[in-house]
Amino acid sequence: MYEVVKAEKLTPDVTRLELKAPHIAKKAKAGQFVMLTVDEHGERIPLTMADFSAEKGTVTIAALEIGKTTKKLGTLKAGDKMFSLVGPLGLPTESHKYGTVCCIGGGIGLALMYPVVRALKEAGNKTISIIGAKNEKLLIYEKEIQSVSDEFYVCTDDGSKGHHGFVSDILKKLIADKRDVKMVYAVGPIIMMKVISNITQPHGIHTVVSLNPIMVDGTGMCGSCRVIIGGETKFGCVDGPEFDGHKVDFDNLIARNRRYMAEEQISLKKFQEGK
Ligand code: FAD
Ligand code: FES
Ligand code: MG
Repeated sequence: MYEVVKAEKLTPDVTRLELKAPHIAKKAKAGQFVMLTVDEHGERIPLTMADFSAEKGTVTIAALEIGKTTKKLGTLKAGDKMFSLVGPLGLPTESHKYGTVCCIGGGIGLALMYPVVRALKEAGNKTISIIGAKNEKLLIYEKEIQSVSDEFYVCTDDGSKGHHGFVSDILKKLIADKRDVKMVYAVGPIIMMKVISNITQPHGIHTVVSLNPIMVDGTGMCGSCRVIIGGETKFGCVDGPEFDGHKVDFDNLIARNRRYMAEEQISLKKFQEGK
């Protein structure tokens, strides 16, 4: 059992939990994830670590409440116990010194992006961050990301803050202005990562994306998280979750992520009806 040290709502639909897990915290690196089970009757789900502290012995996760398990997770309070927590899993972000890097995040992806920008900054890179959300109220981790960014842009779909439009508009401008961006990192909705990869490909800018295939064991045994990278089958949990955006078959990923939608909706309905 893993104690919830702190629980808070970042937006009405995003819950952040700080969990006591010293054995995970001391090994955790940016880009890695945990597999968790909220209670003994629950399913295992993967969540990226939004933060970790070896000193405090805690890991922090931020979940967008979209279905039964994430909504159940959103009911946890400080002092409650999480049934299981396994990690750190997946390969860490390759935080080399590239020169100038541009990190782009959208929606819940912003929570995942923060430790990545921090690691790239600590590796000696000049960090340009572009963050986006539907509206100002849904912008999370803004201050944290800004604090580790040399250059910082905010975008909202409705224009309530920063640039009125997409994160990709700012990236296109940086490229048009011939900024010497050596690496682009993108995390967020699959369609956003696809658009970003398509923009950078003709310019030969190395692009890394963080993929979210459906995971069951998270350790390379079940095959649920299969993704197609450069025509080859890879496992998101052990070969990723980060991959070369120019090689990802995004359409296959979108189709595979929808394969249990009918069951997920039944499960959510039963949960909401208290069954
Ligand atoms: P459901 O109604 O069961 O599912 C809703 C949708 O979520 C599905 O259609 C499917 O696309 C996806 N999903 C469902 N089950 C899984 C599963 N076992 N594994 C992956 N995706 C699933 N979300 C966050 O909010 N914050 C994060 O930090 C985060 N990090 C992730 C890191 C990785 C490596 C991966 C693979 C996914 C991550 N996700 C994250 C997505 C998160 O795991 C799903 O949103 C969650 O499992 C949905 O569960 P649910 O029961 O609430 O919703
Ligand atoms: Fe089972 Fe990756 S989640 S192999
Ligand atoms: Mg589920």
